[in-house]
Amino acid sequence: MKYTVILPAAGRGKRMGAGINKLLLELDGVPVLIHTLLVFENDENCKAMILAVNPDERDEMEGLLNRYKIKKPVKFALGGAERQQSVFNGLKEAGGEGLVLVHDAARPFITKSLIGRLAEAAERDGAAILAVPVKDTVKKAIGNHVAETIERSSLWAVQTPQAFRISVLLEAHERAGQDSFLGTDDASLVERLPHPVAIVQGDYNNIKLTTREDLVFAEAILRQRDRQNI
Ligand code: CTP
Ligand code: MG
Repeated sequence: MKYTVILPAAGRGKRMGAGINKLLLELDGVPVLIHTLLVFENDENCKAMILAVNPDERDEMEGLLNRYKIKKPVKFALGGAERQQSVFNGLKEAGGEGLVLVHDAARPFITKSLIGRLAEAAERDGAAILAVPVKDTVKKAIGNHVAETIERSSLWAVQTPQAFRISVLLEAHERAGQDSFLGTDDASLVERLPHPVAIVQGDYNNIKLTTREDLVFAEAILRQRDRQNI
């Protein structure tokens, strides 16, 4: 299943608190952004990548693509103030028909096999997301008091990539824009069309690097992968 991937990369990494875009931090001597891009570089089903970036970081990121010899076509789109705007700007570069994946550049542990299963589901259903069953009990609160306990068996923690027919995602983003709806993921814009979204079980290792402690988990995941390759 061929696809184009949009990689929102225009955040500021405030929760990471590193003082720079967290995608430029290195894991094992390689920037997070490059770890992520190499997965798509090495997936024969990926036709092209679209990077949504901050204008002041474009040169640096372009330099990294050269240094790490990324050969696939890479287009740049303008990052927006919100992730949703970054994705929409990228989507406008994706063109006509086919499948588009949206993947947080901050999730470097995505794998080719998960991408394949996700793309297959999106080809079939028009929209699909990766998610893992929630491990913790989740409660809804009002202020500092519990309002209710939500039944855990129906809860999924949602990841990226999320995959869509381009026409479906474009309509969802246009509609969200018209309604001034701001979602925290792309599927939420598709759900409100309404359009069904399939769930494909992801991997607990497909973490998003968000706060400092995630760097420790990331190093552990890399070490575990090294051991498995021996
Ligand atoms: N992102 C983006 N444009 C934005 C905000 C975020 O392209 N305006 C990207 C980030 O670069 C990241 C992904 O969306 O790859 C997920 O966002 P998040 O984890 O929230 O990253 P940041 O926004 O950088 O972090 P923070 O919210 O802590 O500032
Ligand atoms: Mg953010």
